[in-house]
Amino acid sequence: MRIQNLFDAPTRRADVETLIAEHFPKGHSTPSLFPVASEFAPLLQTANSKNVYFIEEDGMIIATLSWKAFDVSSKEGTLRVAALGLVLTHPEHRGKGFSTALMKHAETIALDEGCSLMFLWSDLIDHYLHRGYLLIGGELNISIDANVAPAPASNSAKLKNFDVESALKLYQSMKLGPRRSKWIYNYFLSLPSVYALQTEKAYLLAGKARDLNNVIHELVGDPSDYSFLVASLLAQIATQDSKLQINLQVPTAHPHANEIQKLWGVTQQGPWVFAKILNYAQIMSFLSHSLKPYGLKIDSQQGKWRLIKGSSLQNSAVLFESGDAGHMLQIFWSPWPIQQLEGLPENVKSALSAWQVPSIYFWGMDSV
Ligand SMILES: CC(C)(COP(=O)(O)OP(=O)(O)OC[C@H]1O[C@@H](n2cnc3c(N)ncnc32)[C@H](O)[C@@H]1OP(=O)(O)O)[C@@H](O)C(=O)NCCC(=O)NCCS
Repeated sequence: MRIQNLFDAPTRRADVETLIAEHFPKGHSTPSLFPVASEFAPLLQTANSKNVYFIEEDGMIIATLSWKAFDVSSKEGTLRVAALGLVLTHPEHRGKGFSTALMKHAETIALDEGCSLMFLWSDLIDHYLHRGYLLIGGELNISIDANVAPAPASNSAKLKNFDVESALKLYQSMKLGPRRSKWIYNYFLSLPSVYALQTEKAYLLAGKARDLNNVIHELVGDPSDYSFLVASLLAQIATQDSKLQINLQVPTAHPHANEIQKLWGVTQQGPWVFAKILNYAQIMSFLSHSLKPYGLKIDSQQGKWRLIKGSSLQNSAVLFESGDAGHMLQIFWSPWPIQQLEGLPENVKSALSAWQVPSIYFWGMDSV
């Protein structure tokens, strides 16, 4: 089986994009306004051609996959991670190992190029768990109809500095393609939820919504911060096409999930987030440096990940020990407080909640 890429075979781009347009799932019950390929601009852009792989049989492209490297930074260092996307095999050629072969190829090259971790969003839990991926998070999906978008009256005081008009103008001017860079996301995600939305925050929120068929992704914070904005966006959309709706996606462990549900109705499980560790040593080193200022240490022995409090092994306490690296990744890569994370044992939650562990937000990536 020969794996090619679009850098070496640029004339096959149109065929790869056609396969994607015709067979890649369109997401969660959202109206499809734009070609699916335009949602994934960072992966498909020419600069990333060498990471767009495909397999050809009898002159037809039958499977494809793309990935892209991102640098995740903390004050103490940088970790290079690879985001995987557009994993697709033509329906008539499934079950023959094409996708698995493409994934292995991507993992090998990403590791070679210094990536420590491969991650992706998908609904296919078993498929990725069988291939060595860890489930490290998920998103909830909420569809809000343009005609039923309540904006709580109590928001008026909080939002006095919020410039809805400018936000809507920005929203209107959005065309295609993710607009936000990693640092902007990180900034967005780290804003304290108690602050009223400023225009910039609105821009961050609206920017991606427009790109991705009216899906607002990775929503964080207190609903009273953004409910007015969501209602305004919906009102704006309704004036253009009353059939349209907005989909909100919030990480499953969102501390205000119940409140969101009360405000906007039933949530459905959205995509899950997976990660595969490609280079333990690099991740350990990055985490160790990032944790040092907090008096915390990470240690991995015989496949067990341990989070240790104290400056030396003699003079320390184990805060968390797990054979499942997925829990460790959740701790460091989630924007939520430790006690909100999924699947952590209670004693671990209470031990960790007393500590301020710096989060390295992997929700801070551009859309892939
Ligand atoms: C997921 C997908 C890429 C797998 O491609 P593939 O080339 O069939 O993958 P492989 O042959 O390497 O692996 C086949 C897997 O599908 C299952 N399978 C077998 N025959 C199948 C068939 N005819 N159709 C679908 N899946 C089949 C196998 O059981 C195996 O899963 P498991 O090992 O977890 O049990 C493909 O089903 C697809 O394109 N789905 C739609 C796009 C999508 O959802 N992509 C993921 C979003 S990131």
